[in-house]
Amino acid sequence: MDIRIVTQPARQIETEALVTCVFEKDDRIEGVVAELDQETAGRIKALADGGELTGKSLEMTLVHNPPGLAAQRLLLVGAGKPEKFTLADLRRAAGAALRHLKSRGVKQLTFLAQEAYRDAAAAQAVTEGLVLADFESDKYKSDKKNDKRIDAATLTGWDASAAPGIDRGRVLAESQNFARDLINEPSNRLTPRVLAERAEAMAREAGLTCEILDEKRIAELKMGAMLSVAQGSSEPPRMIVITYTPSQAGPGAPVLALVGKAVTFDTGGISIKPSEGMEKMKYDMAGGATMIGVMRALAQLKPAMKVICVVPSTENMPGGRAQKPGDIQIAMSGKSIEVLNTDAEGRLILADGIHYARQLGATHIVDAATLTGAIVVALANVNVGVFGSDEAFTAKLLACAKRAGEKMWPMPLDDDYREFIKGDMADIRNIGSGKGGGAITGAMFLKEFAEETPWIHLDIAGTAWLDDNKPWMAKGASGVGLRTLVDLALNFDS
Ligand code: BES
Ligand code: MN
Ligand code: ZN
Repeated sequence: MDIRIVTQPARQIETEALVTCVFEKDDRIEGVVAELDQETAGRIKALADGGELTGKSLEMTLVHNPPGLAAQRLLLVGAGKPEKFTLADLRRAAGAALRHLKSRGVKQLTFLAQEAYRDAAAAQAVTEGLVLADFESDKYKSDKKNDKRIDAATLTGWDASAAPGIDRGRVLAESQNFARDLINEPSNRLTPRVLAERAEAMAREAGLTCEILDEKRIAELKMGAMLSVAQGSSEPPRMIVITYTPSQAGPGAPVLALVGKAVTFDTGGISIKPSEGMEKMKYDMAGGATMIGVMRALAQLKPAMKVICVVPSTENMPGGRAQKPGDIQIAMSGKSIEVLNTDAEGRLILADGIHYARQLGATHIVDAATLTGAIVVALANVNVGVFGSDEAFTAKLLACAKRAGEKMWPMPLDDDYREFIKGDMADIRNIGSGKGGGAITGAMFLKEFAEETPWIHLDIAGTAWLDDNKPWMAKGASGVGLRTLVDLALNFDS
């Protein structure tokens, strides 16, 4: 999608659809909306008086051949109450407008900014909304919505100083769509080897270094926790390592490691999952794909800090060679683990991923993982669960999430939960011994491997996948977390 700024007066812009927001309030015919109302000889006010235009959030009012405008259509998008409106709402409004129009065969649109949203950050949010909304999860459908994609968008109301916002928004949203595409892939088409190839190809194109550890190398490095999950599958595991090195970073500068769970299919192993809904476990690699997508964005946005991405990838399968409940494994760090449930596999592969990231020189670690069903019980499919070992680092990440418009909520991680993972015959166990607190138990397990390195765990099990279409986004992979983590790398020192 081609996106550019135009500076003509709105009424003169020849476009298939002119889009703007209308707030939910008594004097909603104000600012640019009042101007458009004048140009169209009172058409908008008439709609408002008739009760058809209320400004309620994401209400769509489409006017064909609006008089006085060069546009073929005028789309008024409800923006809700002005005092509640944020850039996240602007992003959604732009996305919902695009999806509304493209389902009607429109190929090109123009987004007109409100007076209060004419800076680069607003242009970025609109761009992100448009690019994310144009993505469809229909790669394997013969009857693709591809021919329904929007070819071009123009932004008006902004001046040239907003152009960097458009560029940034495009990089972020395209990288998020890159991750969404990987996450949507079924497990027969995206094995650990294929994921590694895709990561390598991305890195080559983006100018990042990429190293793929194969099963031999993983064994040499004694990544016993990761291997214990992989041993049940005939597909060999891969450890994907991508590095971004800034042009200048002194010794002693912070190094951010992004560790992502990439189980390309989670059957549960011998502790097998029920068949109902098991097909969704193809998205158990969302954390890893998201981290690879973050690196794609960072290669273009060039933060000042070094960033290392570590993605352990494997299948979790039952079979003659699969590990069994009660097995004891030795992680790369040397800790012994009692595997009491083979379905708590994400924490096993992340244990070695996190330890390896520390060995590579990480001073700060963030992991993202579809780790537990319990986080869905706690936060539903609305918020990402955030578990942090370092208060200042966690506060920084939550601020980044807010800026990026991704909903995240802090969860507890106090030492009182430590006994949940105390081992009986080994150092630790991979499931809780207490009742409840499943998501915290998973986080406590990971903390054992982050040790004293400041670390944050994002449990995205509830938020990485949309079961249904949203007005602003197609169903399937969401790519959640990517924009927050890019923001974190770019603003680490602020
Ligand atoms: N991949 C699952 C978690 C998951 C659940 C992701 C729902 C997406 C949606 C994870 O590997 C898992 O199986 N977790 C178990 C842990 C339990 C055995 C302690 C769970 O949550 O049931
Ligand atoms: Mn599992
Ligand atoms: Zn899993």
